Amino acid sequence: MGEKILIDTDPGIDDAFAILYALKSPDFDVLGLTSIYGNASIEQTTHNARALVDMGGQACPVAQGAADPLTIERRAFPVMVHGEDGFGGFSPAQIKAPLVQGSAAGFIIDTLRAHPGEVTLVPIGPLTNIALALQQAPDIAQLAKGVSIMGGAVNVNGNVTPAAEANIYDDPEAAEIVFGAPWTVTMLGLDATHQVPLTRANVARIEADGGMNGRFLAAAAVQYFDFHAEVVGLDFCHFHDPSALIALCRPDLFTRQPSSVRVVCEGFAAGKTIAKPIQRFTAQPGWDERARVEVCIDADGAGVINHYLEVMTA
Ligand code: BDR
Ligand code: CA
Repeated sequence: MGEKILIDTDPGIDDAFAILYALKSPDFDVLGLTSIYGNASIEQTTHNARALVDMGGQACPVAQGAADPLTIERRAFPVMVHGEDGFGGFSPAQIKAPLVQGSAAGFIIDTLRAHPGEVTLVPIGPLTNIALALQQAPDIAQLAKGVSIMGGAVNVNGNVTPAAEANIYDDPEAAEIVFGAPWTVTMLGLDATHQVPLTRANVARIEADGGMNGRFLAAAAVQYFDFHAEVVGLDFCHFHDPSALIALCRPDLFTRQPSSVRVVCEGFAAGKTIAKPIQRFTAQPGWDERARVEVCIDADGAGVINHYLEVMTA
């Protein structure tokens, strides 16, 4: 069996690429999905998470998470990136996978307590559910094997504001709680994902050799490529969410910088993640006492894509 993981997700086109990969890869044992608002409403992302479980063909529980950030007003959904339905117009109408009773935060707490030291959390959406779980049960920080977050931007600009990456911008206060908790966090932000280009040719291969799920991903990706072409000016997509998983099973493909990370919670830089390498001096309190975060600052983009293609076309 592969590594036990719990994915907190706002599907989302790149979330779909990540989850269908995780459900297929022998490197992972997916204990559940928890949904979060972000790329679409909580009703839509929960529906999409259940649809992905159907497509993955595994009995994987789904728990519904928060509809809004901890305290701030929810930001607008990025319909130009993921479409009204989060899947570029291809969200299936019918779903079968059941929804578990109770909240996502409760499900996260119960799962970590049931498998102490064994489960890695993989949040690939806004961090509200994870912060709620920490607030309700601070002991989970010691129980998780680790946390691999898709989010943040350290040495590069953000993607929703010049300062902020989308998942952190959606709930900066939650991110500040999660990066500050005493657990081992890997931060897989734009510094790394901007070095992992997914091309239309890559997706054509997934469509041709990846079965029904490959055809679904190729259909949903059309909207994602159009956004990158028309708004960002790129003829490829940044491969965000799958990279947070691949960092776990192929650590050799990423360069890490051990740091402490803090999040700007207010003002025009809200959602900015600031990292201080742990060996660097600071005269300011509030940094050195924080937990160590492994910030991925470089990625072998071709290696990440080749690994993904190998799994999805196997
Ligand atoms: C992140 O924001 C979302 O739109 C994507 O699904 C990804 O998790 C990238 O900034
Ligand atoms: Ca996401």
